[in-house]
Amino acid sequence: MSVARDIPRQAVILVGGEGTRLRPITSRVPKPVTPVVERPFVAYILDNLTRHGVERAVFSSGFLAEAIQAVIGDGAAFGLEVSYVVEEEPLGTAGAIANCDAVLDEGSFFVFNGDVLSDVDLSALAATHLEKGGMGTIFLTAVDDPSRYGLVELREDGSVASFLEKPGDWEGTALINAGVYVLEPEVLELIPRRRLFSIERGVFPKLASAGSLYGYVDRGYWRDIGTPDSYLQAHFDILSRQVDTAVAGLLGDQYLYLSPDAEVASSARVVPPCYIGEGVRIGEGARVGPLAVLGGRAVVGEGAVVTEAVAQAEVVIGSYAQVEGSVLVRGASIGAGTQLNGAVLGEGCVIGAGNRLAGGICVYPETELPDNSIQFYEQLRGREGA
Ligand code: GTP
Repeated sequence: MSVARDIPRQAVILVGGEGTRLRPITSRVPKPVTPVVERPFVAYILDNLTRHGVERAVFSSGFLAEAIQAVIGDGAAFGLEVSYVVEEEPLGTAGAIANCDAVLDEGSFFVFNGDVLSDVDLSALAATHLEKGGMGTIFLTAVDDPSRYGLVELREDGSVASFLEKPGDWEGTALINAGVYVLEPEVLELIPRRRLFSIERGVFPKLASAGSLYGYVDRGYWRDIGTPDSYLQAHFDILSRQVDTAVAGLLGDQYLYLSPDAEVASSARVVPPCYIGEGVRIGEGARVGPLAVLGGRAVVGEGAVVTEAVAQAEVVIGSYAQVEGSVLVRGASIGAGTQLNGAVLGEGCVIGAGNRLAGGICVYPETELPDNSIQFYEQLRGREGA
C-alpha cells in the first residue's frame, strides 16, 4: 500500500469516556485498553495509524487515564509516539479535541473515537480530504440498522448536506458517522475551551451548513465495540478474519492460534476459528470453538463446551459447564455443569455449580453466587413476549 504524500502524521484518539454501556467488561479496565483477542483494544487503532504513516498519537483521556497510560506507555511498543492530555471533567468529543490544541503540530490531524474497530483506508480518507479542500472529512460507513446512530446525507459533490439524529423508524441501509475523521486546525477555533462540547452536535452541523464538511465512504470493515454484543462480535470478526488485523498473522490459514505451551487433553477438540492463549489448559472431552477466545492461563474443565465466547485471562470453566454467546472477564470462574448463554461475568466473579445464566444478564465484578441458585426458563421469557 502506498502512503499518500500529504497524509496527516498526527492523530487525536478520544479515550476519555466512561464506557458505561460496556459494563461490567469495563468496570475495572477502561474500554480503550480492554483486551480484545488478548490485545489492548486501542492497539488495533494504533496499527492502522502506523500502517498509514502516522507518527504521533495524542490520547485525549480522563476516565481512568492512568490505567490507559500504564498499558500504552510512550507508544514505542506500538511503533509510534504517544502522548496524553488528561481532562479533569469530561469535555465531550469536541472539548476533548480542543484540549489537545497545545500538543498538536500545525497542520491537519486524524481523530479516532477510541472504540472503533476498522481497517478503513486512512490514506484514501486523507486523499479525499485534500481533494475536496474542506475543513473536515468524515469516514462514513453503511449500516443496516442506523437507529443507534446519527445518519449522514451527502450532496452530489460529496459534501455533507445534513445529519439526522438517531431516527427510530428508518428502514434500509444508511450512511453513518463512523467516528473517524480528518480535521484542519482552524476547526479548533469553533470550539469553546474547557467546557462540555460535542463535535457531532456543536461543530459538524456548522461546518456542513458552510459547505465545508465532506464524507468519505469506505466499504471496509467497521464496528464500534461499545456494547457487550458488539464486543463479542468484534472477537468473532477478528477470528474469522473479516477485519484485517495483526491477529490474522497468528491465526494463519487454519484460523487457529494455539499457544505452544497450551495443554490440550488428547480427547478434547479445538474447533477453528479459535484463539488459545499462553498456558491455557483444556480437559479431556472438552470442546472449544468455533469462535472462542481463551486468554492466558484460562482453564476449561473436562467435558465442558465453550463456543462463540470470550474467556479472558485466568478464567476457570468447571467440568461439563457450557458457555455460549458469553463473555467472562479476567479471573471469573464458573462451577461444574453451570450454563451461560448470553451472559457477561465481570472480573473475579465466582459462580457456583449448577447455575444457568442467560438472556443478556450482566454480573458485576467479584459477585459470588452459591451452587444451584439461579435458573433461567425460556418459556417464561416466551410468555412475557407473547
Ligand atoms: P458510553 O458511556 O457507553 O456511552 O461510552 P463512552 O463513554 O465511550 O461514550 P461514546 O461511546 O459516545 O464515546 C465515543 C468515544 O469518545 C469513546 O472513545 C470515548 O472514550 C470518547 N469520549 C466520549 N466522551 C468523551 C469526553 O468527554 N472526553 C474524552 N476525552 N473522550 C470522550
